[in-house]
Amino acid sequence: MFVTWPFLVLVAIPMVSAYPSGILQKRPFEWDSTKYLIAFGDSYTYVQGTHGLQNYSFIGDLQNFEYDPQTLLADKIVQIQTATAEGGPNWVEYLTGCGLVEGVTSPFDCEQQLWDFAFAGADISVEYTPLHHNFTVSLVNQVKQFNDYAQPVLKQTVDQSHALVAIWIGINDIGDSSKYDVDFPTFYNELMDTLFSSVQTIYSLGYRSYLFMNLPPLDRRPGNLGSADPSPNATQITWYNDALSQHAEAFHGRYTDTNVMLFDAHSELSYILDHPSQYGIVNTTNFCAGYDQPDIAWNYKAYGCPTPLSTYFWYNSGHMTSHVHKILASAVLEKLEAWSS
Ligand SMILES: *[C@@H]1O[C@H](CO)[C@@H](O)[C@H](O)[C@H]1NC(C)=O
Ligand SMILES: *[C@@H]1O[C@H](CO)[C@@H](O)[C@H](O)[C@H]1NC(C)=O
Ligand SMILES: *[C@@H]1O[C@H](CO)[C@@H](O)[C@H](O)[C@H]1NC(C)=O
Ligand SMILES: *[C@@H]1O[C@H](CO)[C@@H](O)[C@H](O)[C@H]1NC(C)=O
Repeated sequence: MFVTWPFLVLVAIPMVSAYPSGILQKRPFEWDSTKYLIAFGDSYTYVQGTHGLQNYSFIGDLQNFEYDPQTLLADKIVQIQTATAEGGPNWVEYLTGCGLVEGVTSPFDCEQQLWDFAFAGADISVEYTPLHHNFTVSLVNQVKQFNDYAQPVLKQTVDQSHALVAIWIGINDIGDSSKYDVDFPTFYNELMDTLFSSVQTIYSLGYRSYLFMNLPPLDRRPGNLGSADPSPNATQITWYNDALSQHAEAFHGRYTDTNVMLFDAHSELSYILDHPSQYGIVNTTNFCAGYDQPDIAWNYKAYGCPTPLSTYFWYNSGHMTSHVHKILASAVLEKLEAWSS
């Protein structure tokens, strides 16, 4: 099991969890001196870049896989209503404070630089699930692209001893595969084998601190509520999260000079769903139909939404609102502080 060291679990709110957040630590970790967050994942994590594919990436896509150093160095994070999949800043932006302000921000201008290679709609690998679009960059390809085009440039400025690699992936995988005719625990372990061989590539580039986020309670998405056959169901999510936690632990066992952190996003988000009023949330069961309309901030009633978007847990059928990302980021931050030596 994951152990928390040097502290026991320090949480503001009591919770019971099958996969408690924890750190497996062999080297000093200090969030306050972390200068770089290198992120991989899907729409929960992607940020729009001025040199990215609109609505999908910070930089490049599968058809534009290669990029030159100038493109990366000049790229800026865009912050507008449509620049994330949540209608506002997402968890990595709140966590680093990088790209939070309206307009564009160069990662170089941030105290904690966010280098975000997540791609909206990504799964882990085409070995298991088809691409959402022919331009989608899977997690495996995000890491390949990072290895080939980003790291050769970033290594000139990024001090890896002050870098944290954050990975949140599986949201699309578990949905896309939920009706497969397979033994799911075995299948999720295969997915994790592939994910962690990409993590090993990142390790070989010199990165030693890792943050893994597990899957949210996707069985409680609006589309799944009241369904006799939610897709994915709670059992599948438990199996996936177990596989992630076991592989994260095994990775740390193999590479003992790493810090491997697991944030139990499942528990945190379940707690918010169960205690919405503590967070100013009134709507956990549905999303506002006009969520992506330009006037949604003030004109929500015109779209049949009794309360503002920020009082909703769900932004749309599969994503949480920016408000929830903000709460999540502060919970992650609290852990990262607690895990700091
Ligand atoms: C990006 O998403 C916005 C909001 O959903 C949409 O209006 C716009 O057309 C999309 N852009 C592209 C290039 O798909
Ligand atoms: C990608 O898919 C689009 C839409 O289906 C198609 O028009 C385009 O030719 C495809 N591009 C490539 C490179 O396959
Ligand atoms: C969820 O789906 C899996 C795979 O179809 C099935 O084995 C399991 O019993 C389901 N769990 C629930 C709670 O429905
Ligand atoms: C939740 O949102 C839906 C869709 O906007 C709306 O119809 C419903 O009345 C809301 N529920 C509450 C409790 O506000």
